[in-house]
Formats: sequence, C-alpha cells, structure tokens
Amino acid sequence: MEKELTAKQLMELEGHYGAHNYHPLPVVLERGQGVNVWDVAGKKYFDFLSAYSAVNQGHCHPRIVEAMTAQAQKLTLTSRAFYNDKLGPYEEYATKYFGYDKLLPMNTGAEAVETALKLCRKWAYEKKGVEDTKAKIVVCEGNFHGRTISIVSFSIDPDAFDGYGPFTPGFVPIPYNNVETLKALLESDPNIAGFLVEPIQGEAGVFVPDDGYLKACYDLCKKHNVLFIADEVQTGIARTGRLLACDYEDVHPDILILGKALSGGAYPVSAVLADDRIMDVMRPGQHGSTFGGNPIAACVAVTALQVVKDEKLAENACRLGQIFRDEMTQLCATSKVAASVRGKGLLNALIINNDKQKDLAWDICVALAENGLLAKPTHTNIIRFAPPLVITEEQLRECIEIIKKTIKSFES
Ligand SMILES: Cc1ncc(COP(=O)(O)O)c(C=O)c1O
Repeated sequence: MEKELTAKQLMELEGHYGAHNYHPLPVVLERGQGVNVWDVAGKKYFDFLSAYSAVNQGHCHPRIVEAMTAQAQKLTLTSRAFYNDKLGPYEEYATKYFGYDKLLPMNTGAEAVETALKLCRKWAYEKKGVEDTKAKIVVCEGNFHGRTISIVSFSIDPDAFDGYGPFTPGFVPIPYNNVETLKALLESDPNIAGFLVEPIQGEAGVFVPDDGYLKACYDLCKKHNVLFIADEVQTGIARTGRLLACDYEDVHPDILILGKALSGGAYPVSAVLADDRIMDVMRPGQHGSTFGGNPIAACVAVTALQVVKDEKLAENACRLGQIFRDEMTQLCATSKVAASVRGKGLLNALIINNDKQKDLAWDICVALAENGLLAKPTHTNIIRFAPPLVITEEQLRECIEIIKKTIKSFES
C-alpha cells in the first residue's frame, strides 16, 4: 500500500508543483459530508465557505452523488455535435424552474458571464440597432465576475487586472448601489446594450445594496431598452434566502447567469437563461463549449435543483441567516475586534477592526480553523460566513459559539 502523505507534505507538493495563484489556509481536506469536512489527520470542521457558495446543498449530497455516478457509468460526454438524452430534459426543467424560454449550458461561472456578455452585444446589434462594434455594457465598481481577460478588463481590483492588458473595450464602470449614475448614463448614451450587476457583491465583501436598488435599475433598463443582466453565480440558488437574490425585489432579469450551486458543487455546471427574443440571436456555430450541456452535468443540475426545493433550502437560509446576524450584532456591540455584520440569508460577512493589526482577520480564520470552523478573509478585514444551506439551527448555534469564543480570544 502507498504510504499516506502528511498535511505538511501535501502542502509542500502544491507549493512546489502548483502555480501560486491562491493562498489557502493551512488545512488539507480529504472528505466532506453535509456541513462538515475532515482533514487528512481526521479533524472535523464546519465548512463556512461552501466553496464560495457552490456547496449550498451540502458536501457529497447523496442524491446528487447518485445522479452523477449513475450517469458517469452510462455516458459522460457527447459534445454538442450530437444530441444526448439528458440535455433536453434538463433544459426543460431548468427553464420552467426559473421562468425563461431558453437555457445555454456552460461549465464555469466565468464562461457563463462571457456568454451573457456576448449574447448582450449580439442582441444590441441585431435587435436594438446599435452600430456594429459600438455596444457598451455598464458594470459596477467592486464587481467580481470571474477571471477571463474580458472580465478582468472591467475589474477595479488591481490583483485581478494588473499585468493582463491590453484589455477588452466596451465596458463602462459606475459606482455600485447608485441609481442616479445609471440613470444619467442610460439617458445620454443610446449605445448602451446591457447592465451587468451582482444583486449582492460577494467577493467585494458581501455588499448588500439598498432596498429598491435592483428594482430601480431594472425599471431604468426597461425604459431604455437595455438588458438587465444579473450575475447570480454566487447569490443564486437559495444562498440569500430566496431562490434568487433578485426575487427580493420581484426583478426578473433579462439575462440570468448561474453557476456554482447549480451542481451543488459536485461538477462544473453553469448556465445563461433568457427568453427567445434575446436567445434567438445565437445560431449554430456562433458559441459553444465541448463540455457544456454534457449528460453528467445535466443529471447533476436537475438533481441539485430538486434538492433545493425538496429540502426548502431557501427558507432555511432565510430563517437561520437572521439568527446568525442577530447573534453577530450582539457580539459586535461589545467587541473591539468584530465591528459589524452584513448580509442576507446565509451569505454574511463579519467586518474585523484591523486598525492595530492589518492581518488580524487572517489570524482569526486560522484560530477558527483550530476551533473547528473554516472561513476565509476577503479584502484583508472581511470574513465571509457562508455555510452549506442544509445546516440545522442546532449546528448553527454551535458554530456561533465557536465564532464568539474565537473572537473573544483576540480581545485584549
Ligand atoms: C458573482 C460571481 N460571478 C462569477 C464568478 C466566477 O465563477 P467561476 O469561478 O466558476 O468561474 C464568481 C466566483 O466567485 C462569482 O462570485
């Protein structure tokens, strides 16, 4: 039998042979079930990152694993050169589930965002009548939509774009949560084709816009024949306490982008949804992906979506998220370390006061891991807490105690 490697050896292997494009916490995981993961030494943790909200249905959900393994033994990939017997039923299921005419299947979130951008531009030329190559898409400062060249072209985070130019033109950044700037722009520029927005900015640090922001932007887009494009890769599929974060304001995006939890974290599955009036600009050969719409992805996605409904994950996220924020608000009231909490459903962030020690949030996350809870800082002083949505109230309360105990150990 092969000798098992220690955590230290495994981290060294990644450090030596892998590109250094991530800075992971020093924890090496080998198993997951529901809300828990275990490291190679057998230590158990609560996972409060959920692979950036991909594992909403919990790790290794038995129904999703069953759907995936059953299909893996039958047919894995056909490419779209041929039909397969799982794609059509998946497309029917997902379009009815979210209320759209058509779905375009991709694999990762970034690919789905790229797809939406291409769709929007093509729609602008063919339907809106924008002169060729002149279409513009409005985006928000602080955005995170993935890592491709075009997407980082409109990032304002130097880590995301530095060194990757020349950049793709045609994007207009405006401040997030600011209706007036969008209004002025749409009124003055007929070449604007779309407005791309995260209903809550996740990677930026869980920025929740004011109530009414999405609806006001959506109404402006409607008025000016501009496509409202919602990137719900992170916020979608029950994470924020509704099926979609846009549901809070009864906004039905013209183009909806999904990824991550569309597979429950079991497989890379993403999708773009839109009605025929938009989607029919895509014709054979004009866009695609070898793996997009493969039969495993189709089976996994249908099951992952069924689990969300059957297990009432949105309702659970809504109820438990409120408990989490109430408890964290109490903690912040007496803490010098924890400044404030914000979020919706089970997508929340604790803001750490790092005036005295810049990397305090990182140290807190290391201590949280030692105490059995995994979370990761974003933008230095923000700790995102996003457990799988299958978490129970009892488990959540246990985790709240771990967080309180850990924060207390940093109070001086
Ligand atoms: C809002 C949003 N869009 C797109 C992406 C990119 O997804 P992926 O990493 O699967 O390409 C992410 C990833 O965190 C995201 O949060």
